[in-house]
Amino acid sequence: MSPDASHDDHYTLEPEAPAPSLPGRVIVRGDEEDLHHALGSDLMVHAQNCVRQFGDFHLALSGGSTPMPFYRRLMVDPTFREFPWKRTHLWLVDERRVPVTDERSNWAHIASILLDHSDIPRAHAHAIDATAVDADTRYEKELQATLAWREKGHDRLDFVLLGVGDDCHTASLFPHSPALSERDRLVVINAGETVTPPDRVTLTYKTINAARVIAVLITGAKKREAVARIVAGGEPEELPIAGVRPTSPDGSAGEMRWYLDRAACPAGG
Ligand code: 6PG
Repeated sequence: MSPDASHDDHYTLEPEAPAPSLPGRVIVRGDEEDLHHALGSDLMVHAQNCVRQFGDFHLALSGGSTPMPFYRRLMVDPTFREFPWKRTHLWLVDERRVPVTDERSNWAHIASILLDHSDIPRAHAHAIDATAVDADTRYEKELQATLAWREKGHDRLDFVLLGVGDDCHTASLFPHSPALSERDRLVVINAGETVTPPDRVTLTYKTINAARVIAVLITGAKKREAVARIVAGGEPEELPIAGVRPTSPDGSAGEMRWYLDRAACPAGG
């Protein structure tokens, strides 16, 4: 054995980078597939528990490109066959202000994957009428009216799945945008300078932060820099995802979880 054999990269296992230090539970998996399995399993257990406890499950999903393969996985992987879709209410975290026939519509993508292939009752499918002038107040009323069936304190979303943009926006809460300072409304119309189309309808911090579980899904090397910025910290004005923190209006704060694949993790944690 040559004295240099121990330095042969081929045989040296890379030490695993530590999980990034983020507020809440951090779940890291080697690749997207394993990560989707972990997220899907956690989501299904939570959904089943909510159905047991409340009779239904309120799920708010993000659009964009990151979660689409995850939604497809939920439909095809037999692991998730017991998902209580019949008892699930499907909400949107945010929507682009385009008609549902536009290919940029979040609902169009999500519905074509989840609604068409699950038994979510049509009355539980809560699209945002994105082009209506009062799209935000209408959605807010729909949320309030639907959640009002729940006992006080439980009238909140059960699971909110968020993504993060390259500029660290989440939902359609963009850096320096008016929605960041909204404290009372559940849903607002907002706009972002770095996204297409810029005009959006979005859940506010108030609605997101009240959720029972807030999960943030981040995958791919393209998002590594954004993750490093979140770890470094900052004010929500610059870093909107930093404004997402479970609150406890009734004394029972929700849980924050980060689901990352290895590629999205910055070196050094
Ligand atoms: C949207 C989203 C948005 C998204 C981020 C990340 O409508 O675009 O709901 O908040 O989660 O922009 O988008 P990607 O997953 O496409 O990177």
